[in-house]
Amino acid sequence: MKHEVLEKNVGLMMAFILVAVSFGGMVQIFPLLFEGELSKPIETLKPLTAVQLEGRDIYIREGCAVCHTQMVRPLQHETARYGHYSVAGEDAYEHPFLWGSKRTGPDLARVGGRYSDAWHVAHLMNPRSVVPVSNMPAYPWLFENELDGEDTAAKMKTLRILGVPYTDADVEGAQAAVQGTTEAQALIAYLQSLGQDMKGFGGAR
Ligand code: HEC
Repeated sequence: MKHEVLEKNVGLMMAFILVAVSFGGMVQIFPLLFEGELSKPIETLKPLTAVQLEGRDIYIREGCAVCHTQMVRPLQHETARYGHYSVAGEDAYEHPFLWGSKRTGPDLARVGGRYSDAWHVAHLMNPRSVVPVSNMPAYPWLFENELDGEDTAAKMKTLRILGVPYTDADVEGAQAAVQGTTEAQALIAYLQSLGQDMKGFGGAR
């Protein structure tokens, strides 16, 4: 009887649905807010260098995350292929995180050190030159565009507010470090950094 009242009253029904749905959300979010251990950086975690940081922004700009995840799930076929599954503490300095959910290409969370820089150069220039069946797009313009590093220090300062431990020296040297590198060089430096902090745990290979 009481349930009928609820079912016949759209407004009331909506209010109760909201409560029910937000409860599901809270169950997922609240433990993360209060469980400090989960969001604590892993001991070996280092912030990205100035060049790697610029490379990460190119990764975002070019939409690499549309086809690539950076989250190894705790499933046997994934850990056997990529290495240790992803843990929250290795992403403590990620703003925004790039876990993704579309797995058209392989997961990249552990790709650092897997290939040489020269392999990445060839692959970004034309993926088919190293993986004949690849349907990944080519990114030849990354080799033409040079970075001036004008915004790098500002980006680092912003990340510092969010808890990434960049030192004053990091910020001061940022522009000089980035200036003159090509977008491809920065992107490759970023790719080579992925998973390195987890190496001791069977992360990168
Ligand atoms: C349309 C989907 C798509 C997009 C967008 C894409 N990739 Fe890929 N990527 C793939 C596929 C498919 C493969 C597997 C074949 C190959 O190695 O080329 C791959 C492979 C790779 C690999 C080798 C991974 C491994 O473990 O062998 C790297 C590194 C990579 N991509 C980086 C990038 C970067 C960086 C970008 C953005 C500039 C990007 N990809 C954009 C689909 C994509």
